[in-house]
Formats: sequence, C-alpha cells, structure tokens
Amino acid sequence: MKHVLVTGAGGYIGSVLVPKLLNKGYRVTAIDRYFFGADKLPEHDNLKIVKEDCRRLTERDLEEVDAVIDLVAISNDPSGELFQEATYEINHLARANTARLAKKTGVRRYILPSSCSLYGFQDDGVIVNEESRTNPLTTYAKANEQAERDILPLADALFTAVVIRQATVYGYSPRMRFDLAINGMTHGAWENGVIPLMRDGSQWRPMVHIQDTTDVMCLLLEADESIVNGQIFNVGSDRNNYQLGRLAEEIAAALPIDVEISWYGDPDHRSYRVGFEKIERALNWKAKWTAADGALEIYDALATGRLVKDEQTITLSWYQELAKWHKIIKECELYGGMISGIGARIS
Ligand SMILES: NC(=O)c1ccc[n+]([C@@H]2O[C@H](COP(=O)([O-])OP(=O)(O)OC[C@H]3O[C@@H](n4cnc5c(N)ncnc54)[C@H](O)[C@@H]3O)[C@@H](O)[C@H]2O)c1
Repeated sequence: MKHVLVTGAGGYIGSVLVPKLLNKGYRVTAIDRYFFGADKLPEHDNLKIVKEDCRRLTERDLEEVDAVIDLVAISNDPSGELFQEATYEINHLARANTARLAKKTGVRRYILPSSCSLYGFQDDGVIVNEESRTNPLTTYAKANEQAERDILPLADALFTAVVIRQATVYGYSPRMRFDLAINGMTHGAWENGVIPLMRDGSQWRPMVHIQDTTDVMCLLLEADESIVNGQIFNVGSDRNNYQLGRLAEEIAAALPIDVEISWYGDPDHRSYRVGFEKIERALNWKAKWTAADGALEIYDALATGRLVKDEQTITLSWYQELAKWHKIIKECELYGGMISGIGARIS
C-alpha cells in the first residue's frame, strides 16, 4: 500500500482529501498544528495523526513516505496580511523545505497545492494559462509563487514535483470555511435572505468544487510522471469562471428561497479569468460540479443542521481569536496552570 503524507490535513481541503485517500486504500500520515481541531478527521486503522508545526519537519517525518500533498498554509489574503512573516515562513519556506527533505529521503512524488490568486489582476478580456505572466498582489499570493519557484526545479527522474493552481474552492467540508465566495454567499442567503457581494461585482474569479480539486490531487498521485513532472496545472473549469456579480445571481436563482444581493467592502482589485485546457487535455479530467450544485449542497447542510457557522469557519477571525487568547493565557499562566493545575499542594 502506498503511503501519503498530507500536511495541513485538518484544514478545509485536507479534511475532505484524507478520507478520500483512505477510501482509495492509501495509508495516510496527517500532519497539522490542528488550529481547527483534530476532530475533523475520521478514525481509521490506516491513518496516523501527527500534531506538528510544518516549520519543524525533519527527515524522520518523511521516512517511508511515497508521496507528499503539501496543503499547509495560512490560507487566505486577509490572514496573510495580518501574519505576514508567518505566511512567508509557512507557505513558502516550510513547503520548500518539506519538498527538499522529501527528495533527500527518497519520496517519489510531491504535490504543491498553490492558487490561481497568483494571477492577481489581469486586463479585461485576457484569459491566463500556466505560461502567462503572474501578478501576485498579496502576501499570500507572493508566498505561493515563491514556493512554486523553489520547488519546481527539484523535479528530476527520481523526484516528481507538480504544482496545482487551484481556483477558489467551494463546497462542504468537515472544517467548513464560510470565508470563501460561494460558501459565504450561500450562508448569507440561508441565514437572512441576503447574498453578500464584494464590490464591484465585475471582478473575474474562477471556482472549483472541493470534490473536484481533491479528485485532481488523487489523480496526480498516480498520473504518468512523463506528463506531470515539473508541470503547473490550473485546476478549475471554464464553466466556473465567474464575474462575482453573475455568480451571485446564479446562486440566487439556484436556491429555493427569495434572496436579495447586498454589497460590501471596497472595490476588489483582484480579477483574473483562467484557462483550464492544459489539465483537461493532459489528465483527461473535467470538473463535475457547478456553482449551483455547490450552493444547493451547502444550503441543504445548513438547513438540516449538518453545518453551523461558528468562529472557526471564518479563518481570519479564528486566527485573531487564537492570537488574542494565546496572549491572555501567557500573561495569566503560572507553574503550567491557571486556576487549577499548578502542581502544588498545600497541606
Ligand atoms: N480553499 C481555497 O479556496 C484554496 C484555493 C487555492 C489554494 N488553496 C490552498 O490549498 C491549501 C489548503 O487550503 P485550505 O482551504 O484547506 O486551508 P485551511 O486554512 O483550512 O487549512 C490549512 C491547515 O494548515 C494548518 N496549519 C497552518 N499553519 C501550520 C503550521 N505552521 N504547521 C502545521 N499546520 C499548520 C491549519 O491548522 C489548517 O488545518 C492551502 O495551501 C491554500 O493556500 C486553497
């Protein structure tokens, strides 16, 4: 049986990917700090959960591993701006280090889940492909690009390295994220009949369902190395290239309730329309899910109580909470404890 190491395994994508890998018969080591809890992953004989910071991985963590899917990241633009240094450390340096360690210890395949946000802003009418000029506008996007640049040159006959630039992901996950466009729009519609839409709605953004992008990761574990080694693939579909205003209208039309659209924020300067011909041709793969399917899936999960919006589902808010409580606890903690647990007994 093949052994896959997944970093960031307790996150939005990881907690869908790991059960999929287990169902396919892989042995999985799931490494994460578990900022969102380790309870999002199933118990399974072939699953080993390791609580570790990816900035501290060593060769031992990669021994007897066949493939790495390096999901770990501070995973969106606002969190990347708030924690800039950590974002470069984790998204760029730690992933480049993991790839180098993987190559050194004889791991055969390494997959870097990067992002279409590298395309940043492109002129109207331009459809970018993997050869196009990138234009990363945020710390998050820049760190992803630096990881790509360090990792792809490691590819050689014994080490297959491949980058996927994922569109913005949507769909149900045990570690839900309502800070992603379709997920957030659907939640707003369900909760109070209002779809939140970031100004001015004309910005282009590609979307991909979480089942589709995790299917691609599984495909890449087995794909012919002569086709994927050293390559970058955009992951999404032309059908799911949206201007956000039209996306909101489609979601409004798909849901079984009357909704209105409500604008928020300053005009969004990120706008990119992406081509996906390369992955469709090379891997004979096509995305299955539409935005409407994803919105209905989330609506149903909310309506039946399988999904609840709590603080953990907004990445930035949760990281801010963790940072706030870390500071408070450090100030109050004494002898390793707080109100109880200080390890002393008064006789
Ligand atoms: N979700 C999307 O729309 C999307 C789109 C494009 C690319 N991506 C990329 O896919 C990957 C996964 O994204 P996600 O949506 O699952 O994000 P997520 O925030 O849900 O998951 C990231 C995981 O990494 C863990 N983590 C963070 N720092 C760590 C550290 N130093 N050591 C160990 N674990 C740490 C967190 O605990 C979390 O479980 C990221 O690289 C992200 O940039 C995501």
